[in-house]
Amino acid sequence: SKGGYPHFMIKEIYEQPQAVRDTYEGNVEDPALGRVSSAILSANKVIVVAAGTSYHAGLVFSSLLARRAGILAHTIISSELPYLVDSIDGGDLVIAVSQSGETYDTLEAVRKAKERGAAVVGVTNVLGSALDRESQLRLYTRAGPEIGVAATKTFLSQVMLLELLSIRAGEASGRLRPSEANELLRALREVPQVLANTLEASDPVATALSKGLSGSAYILGRGLGAAIAREGALKVKEIAYVHAEAYPAGESKHGPIALVERGFPVFIVATSDAREVAGNAVEMAARGARVYVVKPADLGLELEGRESITRIDMPPSSGVLELEPFILTPLFQLLSYRVAVSRGYNPDKPRNLAKTVTVE
Ligand code: M6R
Repeated sequence: SKGGYPHFMIKEIYEQPQAVRDTYEGNVEDPALGRVSSAILSANKVIVVAAGTSYHAGLVFSSLLARRAGILAHTIISSELPYLVDSIDGGDLVIAVSQSGETYDTLEAVRKAKERGAAVVGVTNVLGSALDRESQLRLYTRAGPEIGVAATKTFLSQVMLLELLSIRAGEASGRLRPSEANELLRALREVPQVLANTLEASDPVATALSKGLSGSAYILGRGLGAAIAREGALKVKEIAYVHAEAYPAGESKHGPIALVERGFPVFIVATSDAREVAGNAVEMAARGARVYVVKPADLGLELEGRESITRIDMPPSSGVLELEPFILTPLFQLLSYRVAVSRGYNPDKPRNLAKTVTVE
């Protein structure tokens, strides 16, 4: 049941504090995280495969794993893995991320990697799913069932779980001191509250922005912000039917900026690993773009003299990068939802889409 909400999507957006709490509590002490960390450290290559929103959680993971453990994980879209599979062998570890555990492309990627001898870790929300059965090591998000086609609470639950994993791997690698790891874990324990505050701050902004969103938009970020931007653009396309393109902000000058003219909407997702996005915001504003910088309130950015840039301040992150996906993602979930509802689209069942894609 929708528990008093008009749609599953909005119910599930508001269930995120609980979903991330359950995922944190269900995993923080789980020895499985330690086993997967050891497998990461001893692997020749770490390859993350996933589709759609789960792919974006994989991008968040590779950003944080690099930072905390000094390890490069290659995050690859499941349906592209077959074209790279010749590079995989028995020394490699494949981490497959799928909330349903039933996505055809991800299962195929896993099967092909297994044929090459790679070990597989399955990260799912569904115990006993096909991916779960195919995997040698298993990790679970605890988001509860997600009915809306849009992945919302499963995304932030994947982020929570993969952040716990990157912290454990950081500790195991010796890059993070135990005291630093504990500090990050303490920060993650506060995520349910941070997320509740974020939802409260985001919803009125999303409603206001939803009126002016049409045509096309860019959503840009660097580092962790690039991953969050991609997830934002997917939500806006699939639920609001507005064309949104995400790419790393540094790429702007290499072509995309040609499209920017007066009034073109550009969202900048600013994270504390990448204050350089301020420069991209200023560049876009100089071309007349309607620029919105979405950022943790306490993230200082050099945007002076650009009154045309709208700053959207979300709750503070105290510079803890791990908190920022939770602070910056909900605005885009709510924006896509508010646009859909105001235009009479069904956010729970967007056209042409199935919740789980079990075909090639
Ligand atoms: O069940 P999975 O996580 O494997 O699903 C992957 C994608 O099909 C899924 O995330 C899809 O992109 C959602 N509609 C996004 O909201």
